Amino acid sequence: MSSISALFVLLSYIALVTSAPNGKRAQTVYLAGDSTMAQSSSNIQGWGVYLPYSLSIPVVNKAIGGRSARSFTVEGRFDEITQLVKPNDIVIIEFGHNDGGSLSPTDNGRTPCPGAANETCTSTYNGQTVTVLTYPAYLVNAGRALVSKGAKVIISSPTPNNICESGTCSYTPSRFTTYSKDAAAKIGNSAMFVDHGLYTANIWKSMGKAKVDVLFPNDHTHTSPAGADIVNKAFVKAVLCGGGGLLNGFVKNSTSGVEGSCV
Ligand SMILES: *[C@@H]1O[C@H](CO)[C@@H](O)[C@H](O)[C@H]1NC(C)=O
Ligand SMILES: *[C@@H]1O[C@H](CO)[C@@H](O)[C@H](O)[C@H]1NC(C)=O
Repeated sequence: MSSISALFVLLSYIALVTSAPNGKRAQTVYLAGDSTMAQSSSNIQGWGVYLPYSLSIPVVNKAIGGRSARSFTVEGRFDEITQLVKPNDIVIIEFGHNDGGSLSPTDNGRTPCPGAANETCTSTYNGQTVTVLTYPAYLVNAGRALVSKGAKVIISSPTPNNICESGTCSYTPSRFTTYSKDAAAKIGNSAMFVDHGLYTANIWKSMGKAKVDVLFPNDHTHTSPAGADIVNKAFVKAVLCGGGGLLNGFVKNSTSGVEGSCV
């Protein structure tokens, strides 16, 4: 075989294995979130890096450090994913770590307008007058745009900071957990909520302070790669315990095969 025809055979083979039987590419999972989900090149790692090991379909990690639901929106990052998705792709959205704070005296470009619905705030950011929406509104708008392209949306509660920091390991969900749950309900049938924060906290509790502290090498928010692997397991466990939901059939692991217990 000439090298040209060998190359042709190879390319046809690649086209075959990367296509679903109907000629379309395999369903894909996209991740939208902050540094706790994103790929990092330092001593910390985001949990999204470990998700591909647990799923049978491709994962495209679009999470990026330092972003909030607002800045991810304003920078056009949800729009980018909305352009990319094909019907039945799944988008996992998890924000909360950069979504606190106040718009005054200084707007950092990440903080949302206070509230749970369609309240708006007028603010000044980078010398411009801007209209700022609530955290749930950013998620609902992004979710509905994705659903209008035929995608499915998983809204995941944020991971907790080190819950053992104070001495005893205890977890109090932030308001972003309730907001995330409500946003999933508002997006509708093509969306579901995964309580990632709760499942992560339960694994940290079962491990105890000494072991958990080691997994937060820099600060109380970002985990080491080993910590991110566990945070991913918590996500997968939460999905499996909920019957799989929109990821049903795509999780490689059995419920009992994944660390942690169902809540
Ligand atoms: C904003 O209002 C629209 C129209 O009533 C509604 O569909 C949507 O769910 C509201 N958004 C939030 C975040 O409550
Ligand atoms: C699922 O199983 C694969 C090996 O088959 C493993 O690499 C991965 O970490 C497992 N995921 C979870 C969440 O336990």
